[in-house]
Amino acid sequence: MESMHIISTKQFLDKKILGSIFKLADDMEEKDRAGILINSLKGKILASLFYEPSTRTRFSFESAMHKLGGNVISTESAIHFSSVTKGESLQDTIKIISGYSDIIILRHFKEGSAEIASRFSSVPIINAGDGMGEHPTQALLDLYTIKKEFGNIDNIKIALLGDLLYGRTIHSLLHLLGAYNVDIFLISPEQLKLPEKYKNYLDKKGIDYKEIDNIKKIIKEIDVLYVTRIQKERFNSEDEYEKLKNSYKIDSEMLKEMKDNAIIMHPLPRVNEISTDIDDDKRAAYFRQAKNGLYIRMALLEMIFKKN
Ligand code: NCD
Repeated sequence: MESMHIISTKQFLDKKILGSIFKLADDMEEKDRAGILINSLKGKILASLFYEPSTRTRFSFESAMHKLGGNVISTESAIHFSSVTKGESLQDTIKIISGYSDIIILRHFKEGSAEIASRFSSVPIINAGDGMGEHPTQALLDLYTIKKEFGNIDNIKIALLGDLLYGRTIHSLLHLLGAYNVDIFLISPEQLKLPEKYKNYLDKKGIDYKEIDNIKKIIKEIDVLYVTRIQKERFNSEDEYEKLKNSYKIDSEMLKEMKDNAIIMHPLPRVNEISTDIDDDKRAAYFRQAKNGLYIRMALLEMIFKKN
């Protein structure tokens, strides 16, 4: 990691660093499952400041902090329960909260906000999603999941299906995939294609990617199918969303086409893009993926505090 803050997955484009995070996450899981108490962050305070809804990210960060012996202060809806309602700027809020805590987990609706926050914070800022920008810790747990499921990341064929325009988990994951030798397929409704800047990045890294118009064309050959929901909250009109909301769905028919050892991932929440009928298939990896978030976040907290 280049800085004490986690703003973008571009900070992690080194297989060695990624490997050590994954190793630490393995250790965390092992200790957690064995019931071994870790008290390494005793006396430290994590503040979670969420301007957008969250289930997995906030709960897993808070749980991770508790499991490491630290404490948590939190507002689950900063937009309603903090001084933003009185007109306070993010900059002032961050200056204040960084005086009360040792690390801030920030989710905000504006791209670039985590980077701005990091300039005004005296403690590490972790970007837990900045609008349509990035969601680096999600991408780390996504990559960790691939590593765990396959034993390796190189040589996998991965299809990213869904809202590639607004999906911040996709953006962060693509950076990380750039550190490996993988084949990428991009599948989205025409209006929700991947922004140019990420394509340029893949080009620069020499990563093989193809934009495909239908998942059926490649379903038989892929190892990982990473599905996202259409990011309704980023649309200007309800109509626009309504037109696109049923563009794709993974169901048991589709599953029949997939390799036996392929996996389906999703950062969650899902709306209707993955049928609940397939949840019990061993290839449905999304709940395992969500659980991995706890261990990756324990590992990240441990690393950050060790470094500082
Ligand atoms: C994602 C997010 O917030 O970007 N959720 C998550 O953290 N697992 C994905 C989404 O909301 O679709």
